[in-house]
Amino acid sequence: MSPEAKLAPARILGIETSCDETAVAVVEDGRRALSNVVASQAELHAEYGGVFPEVASRQHVKVIDAVLEAALKQAHLELADVDAIAVTRGPGLPGSLVVGLNMAKGLALGSGKPLYGINHIEGHLYSAWVQLEESQKHQEPKFPLLALVVSGGHTELIIMRDHLRYERLGGTLDDAAGEAFDKIARLMGLGYPGGPAIQKAAEGGKPDAFNFPRAWLDGTWNFSFSGLKTAVLHQVRELAPRSMQDALPLPDMPDTRLPIANLAASFQAAVVDVLVGKTKAAAEAFKAKHILVAGGVSANQALREGIQEAVDIPVHLPPLALCTDNAAMIAVAGYYRHALARPDDLNIDVSPGWLIESLQI
Ligand code: KG4
Ligand code: ZN
Repeated sequence: MSPEAKLAPARILGIETSCDETAVAVVEDGRRALSNVVASQAELHAEYGGVFPEVASRQHVKVIDAVLEAALKQAHLELADVDAIAVTRGPGLPGSLVVGLNMAKGLALGSGKPLYGINHIEGHLYSAWVQLEESQKHQEPKFPLLALVVSGGHTELIIMRDHLRYERLGGTLDDAAGEAFDKIARLMGLGYPGGPAIQKAAEGGKPDAFNFPRAWLDGTWNFSFSGLKTAVLHQVRELAPRSMQDALPLPDMPDTRLPIANLAASFQAAVVDVLVGKTKAAAEAFKAKHILVAGGVSANQALREGIQEAVDIPVHLPPLALCTDNAAMIAVAGYYRHALARPDDLNIDVSPGWLIESLQI
């Protein structure tokens, strides 16, 4: 699409239930969020130290009607006023995805509005286009756009040459970046979700206190965090008092005898170094005009500062409310599918990876 091409105006209702957030939003013209309601289940799952799929699915069923109602009310609209519906169809937890998909299919059938299935990663990419407040400074991302999507389930480097055109350069070979944060936080007894907990614990720590490994995987655009995770585990074991050693890893371990701040800061620095280093290298290799970092881990302050310092092209970092799962990003992706007449599949997609083939044009 040429930058000058003007797309038809449209209001899209977005629905997202792929994991532990029940979210509905209305977005106008692929940009302005008229509402963005997110009901997080994080507290419910905290006692399990991670998302409990059955609990997630039941909670989505419980709250989705109220979340939809709130999103329409906040936008001062009724369903009849929206032009189309967009819903996350995967990847995600099957029992959670199906709640949003069924709701969306029901609404589309009942109202006769078109329905667009959206890949969750595609949704995260489009979080960079969302404007939450009129006053929010908003610069449209420019193509070619080098995107790093870092969430609890994904670590992907993608080059976007136009709307809805994606090339996956690489991704994690084992744990996702957010998963590594969650597991290390659990190891250190910091609770769930682990990312914000590690970031907070790291505030008083030295990033160079421990020299944890960085898996550069030269010659590829892939990532690996399992070696880092093991190195932190070994380090914690070595430092832990003898009485704790056999019991590791314990979910309820926060122990003042461990240098938690230094461990958290050093772990975070190792993750950020690799994410920033590879994103910068890919942006140069593919001559990107702009960079985008999205997904839950893009809320991380060290990553946000690190990437901005490392490159001299514009970096898009969604406001914190749009880093983690939300439906405004799904509605924007839906807007482009609607406006450019390129629908994706409507079937549930629970494959762990990104079915990029289905998205490439
Ligand atoms: O995008 P998201 O809400 O859900 C998925 O699609 O997975 O991402 C959730 C992930 C969790 O692993 C969480 O620990 C991580 O994002 N996260 C962070 C921060 N805030 C959330 N990781 C590092 N630093 C943060 N401040
Ligand atoms: Zn996500």
